[in-house]
Amino acid sequence: MRGCSWCFHESHSVSPKQTAAIAQSETLQALQIAGTGRTPTSIPEYLHNTYWWAYLHPRAVHIFERQWLVNLILWGNFASLRVAALQELGDVINGRVLQVACVYGDFTEHLVRRLGPAGSVDVIDVAPIQIKNLQAKLSNPQHVNALLQDSSDLHFEDGSHDAVVVFFLLHEQPAEVRRKTIAEALRVTKPGGKLIFVDYHKPMALSPFRYLMVPVLTTLEPFAMDLWNGQIADWLPADISVSNVDKQTYFGGLYQKVVITR
Ligand SMILES: C[S@@+](CC[C@H](N)C(=O)[O-])C[C@H]1O[C@@H](n2cnc3c(N)ncnc32)[C@H](O)[C@@H]1O
Repeated sequence: MRGCSWCFHESHSVSPKQTAAIAQSETLQALQIAGTGRTPTSIPEYLHNTYWWAYLHPRAVHIFERQWLVNLILWGNFASLRVAALQELGDVINGRVLQVACVYGDFTEHLVRRLGPAGSVDVIDVAPIQIKNLQAKLSNPQHVNALLQDSSDLHFEDGSHDAVVVFFLLHEQPAEVRRKTIAEALRVTKPGGKLIFVDYHKPMALSPFRYLMVPVLTTLEPFAMDLWNGQIADWLPADISVSNVDKQTYFGGLYQKVVITR
């Protein structure tokens, strides 16, 4: 419990999870004072309960914001998956692109490098600390419009973006949130525009990762197996039609890229 040191109050030791929650609200206040975003919806429960140590705790950013570490977590595939996602946008981006959720490492930096004179990038994340980290790590933060928003309830008009990228977010979300994230990402993609997902996928039977990753994912990423056992295309909303769905897998099937053309 926080308060003046001489007042009579109950004294609790503060758990790392509580520290993360306090830091989030302080960072949020700082962001609001700085006027960098509208008031976001609150931190979703799954993020707070399951991923506080990876994305919300103040030390998380210091630990995980290392290129070599995010590359190691993806078994050395970070750069090739980043390229696979970004090449869908073309060498020079002249449209409006949305990146749904921040990504540790240099994903956004490489996205910004492709911007042409008429290109722009919006990045949304629900965690204030992640928005602050993004702004701090970019070499040209003024080229990115970083906003506090929830992927399951985007504050953009229908068809507002030429392309939308969702990099390794879906496996972290419970099925009902994932479904809303996919529906929202598709809603804000222009007719004819591209929606690009890169995420985990169930490896082929001969891949050792099909067996090695099960204990890792079931322990650390409780919603990921659900993504393994389904198809992203199966979670598309019924009320928005798409003209094409293209899926490619990588690294023996452990990763997938799904490109949906509206
Ligand atoms: C994109 S995912 C993981 C990406 C990748 N594993 C990495 O290295 O960063 C992580 C981000 O998603 C954000 N996130 C999780 N749920 C979200 C939601 N509902 N809306 C917006 N951002 C969300 C987290 O705050 C975090 O910054």
